Formats: sequence, structure tokens, C-alpha cells
Amino acid sequence: MRLEVGDGYHLSSLVATDRDRLVALLSDGKIAGWIPALPQPYTGESADSWIRHRVAHTQRRPEICFAIREPAGTLVGSVGVDDGSDPRVPNGELGYWLDPAARGRGLATRAVAAFVPYAFGVLGLARLTAHTLAFNARSVRVLEKNGFLLEGRLRRRMRTAAGDHDALVFGRLRDDP
Ligand SMILES: CC(C)(COP(=O)(O)OP(=O)(O)OC[C@H]1O[C@@H](n2cnc3c(N)ncnc32)[C@H](O)[C@@H]1OP(=O)(O)O)[C@@H](O)C(=O)NCCC(=O)NCCS
Repeated sequence: MRLEVGDGYHLSSLVATDRDRLVALLSDGKIAGWIPALPQPYTGESADSWIRHRVAHTQRRPEICFAIREPAGTLVGSVGVDDGSDPRVPNGELGYWLDPAARGRGLATRAVAAFVPYAFGVLGLARLTAHTLAFNARSVRVLEKNGFLLEGRLRRRMRTAAGDHDALVFGRLRDDP
């Protein structure tokens, strides 16, 4: 499964050869500092385990978490929903990140824009939820530009190495404009 993002950038499944890129990108705080759920330290075993998990998932069900790739195929980010959701509740918890070298060009916005109709169509979700650190202004913009509405503020809901922080919760429904 490949979803086009524009200018040759695209979304596709993780493969074993993404291992070293994942470790290189996720083992310092430039991404993980914004996403408390990522394992830290992020090791080769973390990447192997994540890739095995994703490959096993796609053997049984449609992809739910894509690599964002530049035209030549190099992994520069990730966008998708978690797979811990209760199947009786058609909600997906959205997450995304980008290589710092790929930021500031609208790529995250476009990757989320490509993923949202897939999530509501192929995955059959009725709602997407995103939690972001309250001071993550770039992430807030990505969500706003994709039609997500701010639904609330969860006080001290997220813990990072720097302390406990408020989270903002955003939602988008399948039938939102
Ligand atoms: C969040 C993230 C994916 C955004 O990537 P990006 O390439 O900067 O995203 P885009 O270029 O599509 O959009 C960023 C928007 O934030 C704005 N922005 C950039 N720096 C900003 C800042 N310091 N303060 C406020 N807004 C800022 C940009 O101008 C742009 O908005 P605009 O199009 O209205 O001008 C990236 O910063 C990242 O990977 N961060 C770490 C992981 C993360 O936070 N993931 C989200 C967890 S919920």
C-alpha cells in the first residue's frame, strides 16, 4: 500500500531496512522529547521489535502506521494510529513525527492530509484523536490545518524528561467538514 503525499513523497509500510534510520532518528531527544510514548533509550532492538510488530500486523490487517518517505524511498518520518484501540470504538489515536531535516516545508501537514481519508475510508474509523504537549506549537498547527478541533486541555497529562506537562486533545470526526 502506497499513499501519495506530493512531489514524490509518499507513505508506505515499514520494512527491515528502515532499522538504521529509525535508530538514527529516534535515539536522540529531537523527536522523542516531543513524544513521551517512544521508548528511551531507542536501540537497535527497539527498532527491530517495532518493525517485526508492524510487519506482523500488515500480514493480517490493513496498514495503520506508515513510514513517510522521500522520493528515493528513505524514511523521513512516520504517521499513523495506534493499534491498541478497542475495536468496538471506531477511534484511532493519531501520531506523527518527522526528521528535523525534513521539517518546515509542510510535509507533516501533507502526510496527515493523506492519512486522514485513508483512516476514515479503508480503516473505517469514525473519529481520530490526537494528544499533543500543550507547548508543541508546530504539532498544533499540523492538526488545525487538517481540520482537527481543540476539545480540551488535560492538566499534567504527559511526562517527559523535563517534567510533567499539560496535553491538548484534538479530535476530527469522519463527517466533520
Ligand atoms: C510536529 C512536526 C511533525 C511538524 O513538522 P513540520 O514539518 O514543521 O510541519 P509543517 O511544516 O507541515 O507545519 C508546521 C506549522 O507550524 C508552524 N511553525 C513552525 N515553527 C513554529 C513555532 N516555533 N511556533 C509556532 N508555529 C511554528 C509552521 O509555520 C507551520 O504552520 P503554517 O503552515 O501555518 O506556517 C515536527 O515538528 C516533529 O516531528 N516534531 C517532533 C515530533 C512531534 O511533535 N510529533 C507530534 C506529536 S503529537
